[in-house]
Amino acid sequence: MVELAEQIDYHNHRYYVLDDPEIPDSAYDKLFRELEVLESRHPDLVLPDTPTRRVAGTVAAPFGEVQHVVPMRSLGNAFDESELHDFDRRVRELTGMQTVDYIAEPKLDGLAISLRYEKGWLVTAATRGDGQTGENVTRNMRSVLKGGTHLAGARIPDVVEIRGEVFMTREEFARLNVRQKEKGEKHYINPRNAAAGSLRQLDPAVTAKRSLTLCCYALGEVQPGEPLQTQQDMLRWIGDFGLPVSDLAEPVTGMDGCLDYYRRMLERRDELPFDVDGVVYKVARLDWQQSLGFTARTPRWAVAYKFPAEESMTRVTAIDVQVGRTGAITPVARLEPVFVGGATVSNATLHNQDEIRRLDIRVGDQVIIRRAGDVIPEVVSVVEAGRTADFPEFEFPRACPVCGAAIVQEEQNVVARCSGGLFCQAQKIRSILHFASRHAMNIRGLGVRLVEQMINEKLIDSVADLFSLDAERIGNLERMAEKSASNLVAAIDRSRDTTLPRFIFALGIPLVGETTAEALALAFGDIDRLAEADDELLQQVPDIGPGVAGSVTAFFSEKYNREIVRRLREAEVAWPEPEQPAGQTEGPFFGSTVVLTGTLSIPRNEAKKLLQFAGARIAGNVSGKTDFLVCGDNPGSKATSAEVLGVKVLDEAGFREMLAGKPGSGKIIRT
Ligand code: IVH
Repeated sequence: MVELAEQIDYHNHRYYVLDDPEIPDSAYDKLFRELEVLESRHPDLVLPDTPTRRVAGTVAAPFGEVQHVVPMRSLGNAFDESELHDFDRRVRELTGMQTVDYIAEPKLDGLAISLRYEKGWLVTAATRGDGQTGENVTRNMRSVLKGGTHLAGARIPDVVEIRGEVFMTREEFARLNVRQKEKGEKHYINPRNAAAGSLRQLDPAVTAKRSLTLCCYALGEVQPGEPLQTQQDMLRWIGDFGLPVSDLAEPVTGMDGCLDYYRRMLERRDELPFDVDGVVYKVARLDWQQSLGFTARTPRWAVAYKFPAEESMTRVTAIDVQVGRTGAITPVARLEPVFVGGATVSNATLHNQDEIRRLDIRVGDQVIIRRAGDVIPEVVSVVEAGRTADFPEFEFPRACPVCGAAIVQEEQNVVARCSGGLFCQAQKIRSILHFASRHAMNIRGLGVRLVEQMINEKLIDSVADLFSLDAERIGNLERMAEKSASNLVAAIDRSRDTTLPRFIFALGIPLVGETTAEALALAFGDIDRLAEADDELLQQVPDIGPGVAGSVTAFFSEKYNREIVRRLREAEVAWPEPEQPAGQTEGPFFGSTVVLTGTLSIPRNEAKKLLQFAGARIAGNVSGKTDFLVCGDNPGSKATSAEVLGVKVLDEAGFREMLAGKPGSGKIIRT
């Protein structure tokens, strides 16, 4: 028990004073619960200053002290339904009610603040500290409150202390870490840690640069007293002062109401813009709150029902790298299996080489893993104290672990890539799986094991080979039933009938996702036209920049890729012809007739393609029907004809401006 108390105190210090927790909340909660259980079994051994009976936190020296007239308490936790039942039962016993009305609120993951207003003006803002004495953060809090340093409304009490949570949105947290990285400053491990670190700054100017959010949910001292009946009344009263209260708070009745709210909030957890680590239930009637009172640490009228932890601790057993479809190398930490975010996790992404350096992660390290919603599990931090020996640094491989080709680091890009292309088995498998995936060719029943087997048995080597497979050869593979073999062949057969966007997407051109594939299909209407397009033409397509354009031209300049496309079409992969003509359907050149003369900086053919793409007809000679003459260096007699006929003449700059969709601003040199 002494040891547990010491550990808890150590982690309290890291969390509340240093804003630098070493272990995840779930690991802390476990220590705390363990001590509570021991204390209930051995009441005679409870330490006089046990952390289970006091509010954690102290006052850090640089901040002034603020005495809380009404102490700031913590909350008791319920970790499962039965613990919530226990809470509700105790409340029912003490109030003598059959069912109790509660207010349910999200449990915001930030830090508690108490704002003292006298005659409507903010006089002090204080952190919770040890519950009796908090830290004076008034100057810092002014920038968070903006207008809220003076209360709004007509009936303002002489003294009112309003309490709530200061937190950081996930978006702001991500932005802050980017800025911190650019400046080579501290990386925050989660939004709560960032909020605490930002508010507890010695220089208020630093706090002012961080965007913090406030949400109020309780009162401290109020003079003269205000006749409020319920927790809702109280929230409304606070709101009327112009201070923010949660719009997610709801009255609920009994356990059923509590559980229903919990489920709904848990479902919404990931889409909320801020971290919520559970829900808080408070007895709705304030007179009952008063009569239920407090234990040393927590109110008897409220409880926090925690959500499953999204962060857990485990150990790294190995660090491997994975090769993606386009050769991107992703380092992965192999872990001792751990239950986190509702699933057992044994791998976590390490993103890239930079991230490994930042974390300084090594095999054998104890780490904090985060798994939130559908996001792939990642390593948040390495637990310093868990490095029990001098583990060697991880060396990023220089050769692809699958094909042995060199790994290249693209300049200005953190991504490392295997240079093996489709000769690399890993890339080959991934590209075939991508081709078959639901939004691409949608071939059901083609899993990673099967593709691997088919490549090893030399049944296929590329996506084009899929269409010459027969059920008998597939059926001969290990663990492949006859029925599934014929189902697969049928699925492949059905996939022939596709659409152009799906086909383009299925090719797996780097940077070409579904939306880009659709844009390309709409613009070119045909795979051959897309394959022939050059950078400039591609960039005429809305939302296509130099990156995607370069990727598309690089893809089609590979003979291997062109051959695959040819074979796929030979295998009768087909799509309906576009209903609309390809190319642009509006713009300054659309529907116009254009004649070219003289030497431009691009070949005449290129200029023609660009114009055709922009919806223009190209004519050989200037006539009354000509709308524009594009005039390069050393023009011929066409320029004279244009002048005679009053046709608009564009120089190359004007031509390009019009192509870019800026009519009129161009240098129409003569009309
Ligand atoms: S009420 C006497 N309501 O959780 C009751 N606290 O674990 C005081 N918290 O110190 C707290 N959301 O920082 C309350 N809706 C909410 C809350 C909330 C987050 C924090 C608060 C408190 C801690 C206790």
